[in-house]
Amino acid sequence: MWQDLEVTLKKLDKKQLKQKPDQGNLGFGVHFTDHMFLMKWNREQGWHDAEICPFQDFNISPAAMVFHYGQAIFEGMKAYRGKDEQIFLFRPKDNFERMNSSAVRMCMPRLPVEKVFKGLKALLYLEREWIPSAPGATLYIRPTMVAMEPMLGLKPSGSYYFFIILSPVGAYYAEGFNPTKIYVSDKYARAVKGGVGEAKTAGNYAASLMASEEARNAGYTQVLWLDACEHKYIEEVGTSNIFFRINGELITPPLGGSILPGLSRDSVIKLAGQWGIPVVERRLTIDEVIAASRDNSLQEAFATGTAAVISPVGELSYKSETYLINEGKTGELARKFYDELQKIQFGEKEDSFNWSVRVC
Ligand code: COI
Repeated sequence: MWQDLEVTLKKLDKKQLKQKPDQGNLGFGVHFTDHMFLMKWNREQGWHDAEICPFQDFNISPAAMVFHYGQAIFEGMKAYRGKDEQIFLFRPKDNFERMNSSAVRMCMPRLPVEKVFKGLKALLYLEREWIPSAPGATLYIRPTMVAMEPMLGLKPSGSYYFFIILSPVGAYYAEGFNPTKIYVSDKYARAVKGGVGEAKTAGNYAASLMASEEARNAGYTQVLWLDACEHKYIEEVGTSNIFFRINGELITPPLGGSILPGLSRDSVIKLAGQWGIPVVERRLTIDEVIAASRDNSLQEAFATGTAAVISPVGELSYKSETYLINEGKTGELARKFYDELQKIQFGEKEDSFNWSVRVC
């Protein structure tokens, strides 16, 4: 059982290692490092066969339940190269705890957080040369769990793979830290209360694709999601949480079951509290945002997420009308949160919350 989980190391020879990509042109999620972490679960053994092994394809039955019923969950975090070659993670155990919440919702086994964290640290140490040093570049970490049992009857799978793959990345959006253009969808919905919106499960992302494609084809970066029942209340933007500053107050939708409990969202709320910036979690209608844009009390908007960090919103499109936010420029608070988070994440600043963890 996982209480005794040992991690086996299967290392490639030096001459089998891949050539590292150009750090100035990484894109997002297209390059993968030489090794990965893998472990397996079944009812008899629990988590077992943990290993750090070469990055590899899997041999999977076409009947594996992940293909048919979508039992798949994942996380996103990053490793940051700070000064003197020190490597940091940001809130890694919170990420694994959130993965466990997703696992419970999707009837999948919980992870042994301490063991998995140890495995991740060992993997990062082995792959430390892959952690970019170019400005803005990081090593994206993708822990993933999928249902492996070959079985067409609908029930929770009896076996799972958990793996962690690593990808050196640049900015998530082509805009980088420049303001994005957001399309408000009143046709599609991302999630509904009582559904799986608060779990980081693959199906939520598949469900978002059609609206995202339509937004992209219309020249927008991402979709702003409204609630599924009334298409009235703001929920999330693309794959991130969203904040609006109206009349000096920072407003973000509450976690009501249909919204992903983002760690960047939580960090922004906590930093705002520490800095004395009024911040409220409350339901906010799209009409309220439009009215605030019209009477100039909408000062700025920004999205928060691991991949995108802080992403300022410069323009909204709703019912064929466009609304510029802060004259299409990056807002003062978006800049302040971005700078602060990046300093903490790269270990350039002590944080009183102990979010940043040095791992090698
Ligand atoms: C993240 O922000 O890390 C995510 O998981 C979003 C993903 C679509 C890149």
